[in-house]
Amino acid sequence: MAIHIIDHPLVQHKLSLMRNKETSTMKFRELLQEISMLMGYEVTRDMPITYEEIETPLMPMNAPKIAGKKVVIAPILRAGLGMVEGMLRLIPSARVGHIGLYRDEETCTPVFYYYKMPKDKDRLVILVDPMLATGGSACDAISRLKKDGFKDIKMMGLVASPQGLKTVMDQHPDVEIYLASLDEGLNERNYILPGLGDAGDRIFGTK
Ligand code: PRP
Ligand code: URA
Repeated sequence: MAIHIIDHPLVQHKLSLMRNKETSTMKFRELLQEISMLMGYEVTRDMPITYEEIETPLMPMNAPKIAGKKVVIAPILRAGLGMVEGMLRLIPSARVGHIGLYRDEETCTPVFYYYKMPKDKDRLVILVDPMLATGGSACDAISRLKKDGFKDIKMMGLVASPQGLKTVMDQHPDVEIYLASLDEGLNERNYILPGLGDAGDRIFGTK
């Protein structure tokens, strides 16, 4: 399995702005959308290309175009929603599925409450969620997608803990993971350190 840490300076700069506790909800949301676009560029890098005869104003040419599979963007609610718009800017024809999961406050284990994906199981699923803490939510979301018949799954997040990343890698070695940062660890409440706080609350202003 491949892990990709997107260390592009624009991604790293925007992530630092997001981490800052002084950053407003409006700005946080805007930055998440921008980073999602920049990371989406890398996540889609290996999309297969086909060639098509076209005429430029000057001459005919065999021009490249995307041949590959159709895509479904699948956010884990709520925080994953903040990454959808940026991805749709890159892949406007993508479908959008929704996976509803929240972490129980006491146990920090994921609780399912919603699942809706397109019927076509041949699509590439790009699962999006900015935070990979214990890895429980990502693991359960991937397991649910596989149970439903999806086989080609990538995951795009922002910040992960080393232990959470290892958990997902161990349980789902076939899933390629794209991150902006591998952080130091988790605190006693399983929040990522240094992290950026509660992503859902910061996106939706619910703190
Ligand atoms: C956050 C985050 C992930 C999950 C990560 O969601 O968006 O889905 O926690 O934690 P884990 O790796 O330990 O499972 P949260 O449960 O806070 O739900 P919300 O986005 O609806 O607030
Ligand atoms: N969920 C978040 O939003 N942030 C964390 O640090 C951990 C889980």
